[in-house]
Amino acid sequence: MGTAEGVLQVFSGVAPHNLCSDPSSNALGSAYSFNSRLISTKRNASKKIKIPVYASVRLSTSRTYGVQGFGGSSYKYRNIDRLKFSSCRCQRAESFGGKTTGNWFVDSADDLNPLNTMVNGPHVLNFDDVKQLKEEKTDSMSNGAPIASSTIHRAKVDPIEEEAWDLLRDSVAYYCGSPIGTIAANDPTSSNVLNYDQVFIRDFIPSGIAFLLKGEYDIVRNFILHTLQLQSWEKTMDCHSPGQGLMPASFKVRTVPLDGDDSATEEVLDPDFGEAAIGRVAPVDSGLWWIILLRAYGKISGDLSVQERIDVQTGIKMILKLCLADGFDMFPTLLVTDGSCMIDRRMGIHGHPLEIQALFYSALMSAREMLAPEDGSADLIRALNNRLVALSFHIREYYWIDLRKLNEIYRYKTEEYSYDAVNKFNIYPDQIPPWLVEWIPNRGGYLIGNLQPAHMDFRFFSLGNFWSIVSGLATMDQSHAILDLIEAKWADLVADMPFKISYPALEGQEWQIITGSDPKNTPWSYHNAGSWPTLLWQLTVACIKMNRADIAVKAVEIAERRISRDRWPEYYDTKRSRFIGKQAHLFQTWSIAGYLVAKLLLADPGAAKILITDEDPELVNAFSCMIGANPRRKRGRKNSKQSYIV
Ligand code: GLC
Repeated sequence: MGTAEGVLQVFSGVAPHNLCSDPSSNALGSAYSFNSRLISTKRNASKKIKIPVYASVRLSTSRTYGVQGFGGSSYKYRNIDRLKFSSCRCQRAESFGGKTTGNWFVDSADDLNPLNTMVNGPHVLNFDDVKQLKEEKTDSMSNGAPIASSTIHRAKVDPIEEEAWDLLRDSVAYYCGSPIGTIAANDPTSSNVLNYDQVFIRDFIPSGIAFLLKGEYDIVRNFILHTLQLQSWEKTMDCHSPGQGLMPASFKVRTVPLDGDDSATEEVLDPDFGEAAIGRVAPVDSGLWWIILLRAYGKISGDLSVQERIDVQTGIKMILKLCLADGFDMFPTLLVTDGSCMIDRRMGIHGHPLEIQALFYSALMSAREMLAPEDGSADLIRALNNRLVALSFHIREYYWIDLRKLNEIYRYKTEEYSYDAVNKFNIYPDQIPPWLVEWIPNRGGYLIGNLQPAHMDFRFFSLGNFWSIVSGLATMDQSHAILDLIEAKWADLVADMPFKISYPALEGQEWQIITGSDPKNTPWSYHNAGSWPTLLWQLTVACIKMNRADIAVKAVEIAERRISRDRWPEYYDTKRSRFIGKQAHLFQTWSIAGYLVAKLLLADPGAAKILITDEDPELVNAFSCMIGANPRRKRGRKNSKQSYIV
């Protein structure tokens, strides 16, 4: 029948996976035990000793793990055990999953089987190299194959890169002597650190990728396993707990007195789910980034044992369950409050912001690869597949804007009560902002920031667009068009420092109403169209995927002119990004790491495949069936196979 409804049922629940699951280690009924825990104790604030403590927490996983609502099995969560976890300070990462190796946070870098030929050299591409590369371009980069090494010649030791590595290492936070993350900013000139001395989940992603690309896997592994333990800690805001599966926005390593012993201290991890954050915003993006990093770790290190662990599999499922839970929504996009992602204060992005949708899609694609196929997850995997198709259809169809589409909206009829309305969301053409009429280039387009009933947020949000390319949420044509627009609008989006977080700024009354007159988000500052150097790395991955690395090289060159001299600011202000941001922290870690990741990937573009997800033919097919079912557009049915239509 080929209807959208029919297509949504096409998946049998079998996800492609790269896990060769050993039933004994993955069986749901298997015991989950902690043993050989270690507590790091500081006496008289002097030397640290590690005392082995033996404990065993046996959890019958058939009672404790799983996801409600996807399989009919009844599950409970880990609430009870959270308390135990919170007292399990300084656990050895290996011990969480019931596997012990006898070493304290073994640096597995040497033991693993790294796909490390990808990460191998000090070769750095400059603009000319890339131009030459582009001329010689083959399709190989888009499938992630490394560039022929003969084309990468100029090896040089870059002093800015060297400085960046030193600063990045200085920002590493340790927990019981092991690296566990990087703090948000390490600014010796600032007395007002707020919570920038914490490890933010989203901020750590570029740090983690930089370490992975360098072959330093242990910090990422520790981060993944320890943040997993923080997932949905027993924290509340005014007696209300966040949803199970929520990952914290940040955490801090605190030294506290050891219970019952005044002369001793121990280290604990103290997470913040938004209950202390300015504005009490929930970090919806944290869990999505966690899944993306987990996949990247497995891909580059070759160590699939982390993603195969029962606790990690459960963590993935809990995040998915939270995201896939039924609600009141009519749309397949995730409904979130304002400030639930990188833009973590009021900026009028509540609803279905693009950034969250792109990360959601990327996390679903990544989880699809990593979830072990077992009876208990069949329904979850089916729900995941269906959501992927519906989500990509929705975004590609309704978020896309270019000159042609804008003209279509300009001529929209409104108040269409029918099943096959063209103007489904009842968008009034008067909403088209005057700036966009001038701004939209003849060639190129982008995904808008948000879509709600009778509301399109036409602002360009960079991260959402970059990650839609990286994850394959945007089609290949759309991805190229986004990069075309970036090239056409370089002076607006990059100017003197890459990259504007959004464009254009909210000004005047709009700024007053939408931000609540936020003095930090004045026009062309901070989240209100300020420029964020960290965005370099996401831009670079997107450009590499589309075989257009020259764009990223140009952006890196612009950043290099000032970023080190300006002491690695968090963001820049003004329309042309000429000033260091009004309240920008200096030595901001993700500015440093974002730059490093961009450099490392341009030196070895093949390594970007740890972040990229390509469309699966099953999804392409299901998607094209769906397009065929859309009364407004008939296209792309050539490859549809009857077997996918029910
Ligand atoms: C700001 C940013 C947020 C970031 C945090 C720490 O709040 O908006 O995205 O995670 O600083 O750097």
